Amino acid sequence: MIKFLEGDQVYLRPLTIEDANDIYLKWLNDTEVTRGLASGYFPTTQQELINYVSGALRDQNTVFFALCEKESNLHIGNVKVDRIDWVAQTCELGLIIGEASARGRGLGFETMNLVIQYIFEELNLNKITLAVFENNPGALKLYEKLGFQVEGRFVKHVFKEGRLWDKIYLSLFNPKK
Ligand SMILES: CC(C)(COP(=O)(O)OP(=O)(O)OC[C@H]1O[C@@H](n2cnc3c(N)ncnc32)[C@H](O)[C@@H]1OP(=O)(O)O)[C@@H](O)C(=O)NCCC(=O)NCCS
Repeated sequence: MIKFLEGDQVYLRPLTIEDANDIYLKWLNDTEVTRGLASGYFPTTQQELINYVSGALRDQNTVFFALCEKESNLHIGNVKVDRIDWVAQTCELGLIIGEASARGRGLGFETMNLVIQYIFEELNLNKITLAVFENNPGALKLYEKLGFQVEGRFVKHVFKEGRLWDKIYLSLFNPKK
């Protein structure tokens, strides 16, 4: 098993087209996962997932990882570094922990620390951005614990769970630049 980035409890390996399987499809059709994401409004089919993954894998400005638990080797989530701007040295970061049993155990925090270090030390980027929906306070806490700061918000911008919520934009700068 390739371990591209490795922590105490998790490792990240390249996501491949074979990962566009039932496991990933289940996450994308699970409202517990998608309630904080810009997806889940419509059912996702296997073919749509294959198209999405193959498009992301072809994109030179995207790095896509499968997140795996070390002990079990289980694929528990995904991390995507995308919209990389090699000139401005910025990127967007996304994390999903699809397996419910893997949430709330510090794995998201460990994963993000690995990926942040990779983005700053290996890709030599200067700024990481991401957006959190107001109905996802757990994610907001996670990113603030990692040092992300709120840059702004679009008010009443996303519709989830029957009402409108703010979309909150956060960023983290490379401390060495
Ligand atoms: C949001 C998500 C990435 C958090 O990952 P996680 O592994 O469960 O988080 P961790 O256990 O590493 O928690 C780290 C910190 O985040 C905060 N946190 C995470 N989930 C939380 C929750 N549900 N409620 C409150 N705080 C939470 C806590 O402050 C925690 O620190 P603490 O343990 O010192 O209190 C994960 O729940 C997930 O993938 N959810 C579905 C998809 C999603 O919403 N992705 C984010 C989109 S922006």
